[in-house]
Amino acid sequence: MSEAGARVRHRISNPVRGRLNAATLRAVDRYAHLLVGERKRALFADLPEQIVEIGPGTGANLRYYRPGTQLVAIEPNVHMHGPLRAAARRHGIELELRTATAERLALPDASADAVVSTLVLCTVPDPVAAVEEVWRVLRPGGRLLFLEHVRAGGGYGRLQRLTARPWHWLFEGCDVRRDTEGTIRAAGFSSVDVQRYRMRSAFLPINPQIVGTATR
Ligand SMILES: C[S@@+](CC[C@H](N)C(=O)[O-])C[C@H]1O[C@@H](n2cnc3c(N)ncnc32)[C@H](O)[C@@H]1O
Repeated sequence: MSEAGARVRHRISNPVRGRLNAATLRAVDRYAHLLVGERKRALFADLPEQIVEIGPGTGANLRYYRPGTQLVAIEPNVHMHGPLRAAARRHGIELELRTATAERLALPDASADAVVSTLVLCTVPDPVAAVEEVWRVLRPGGRLLFLEHVRAGGGYGRLQRLTARPWHWLFEGCDVRRDTEGTIRAAGFSSVDVQRYRMRSAFLPINPQIVGTATR
């Protein structure tokens, strides 16, 4: 693991903020569904039966998966695990939960048809390594499906600069200024399909977002 990876292991095991972030995700679950539910429904419309999801948190995406879906969930914050298991039961998802990080997926090369990442590449300490790992575990033709907040210019860019430090501390490493589209494009996928949009939420620094797929 890189030095950055070692640092996040320490950060995400913070007992106070780890719990706080799990509670926050649960509290905003319905709101997030209202904000991006339509986009997620379209993104997840034709998922295969087996999915790998990195950083699923408390399971915000599980309501969009078909009942019976086999989900390998890579979630390092153990405070997310209880609500994630409950969401899997609620939505009829077969959950295999692993306390691990996206930078080091203990999965064979070319073994996955689909990997999901929503609001995760902002937080992983080493997004380049995480996307390279995703590429490694995807089969040729397999897809990374993503919805992420990204750095912006103009007024949003200034707001992101102002809020970056407290946001990073509070949300355990979340960086509102990442060029996640650039990271995905640089990872060697055969095609990348991205849409940019502005979410209309009270969480202003994370309103500039991208959604799309990258095909190995
Ligand atoms: C903002 S939350 C998003 C949760 C969920 N994907 C959603 O859309 O609601 C970020 C998630 O990434 C997880 N995370 C942080 N570092 C990670 C890493 N290195 N590898 C995988 N997941 C990580 C956090 O524990 C948290 O569950």
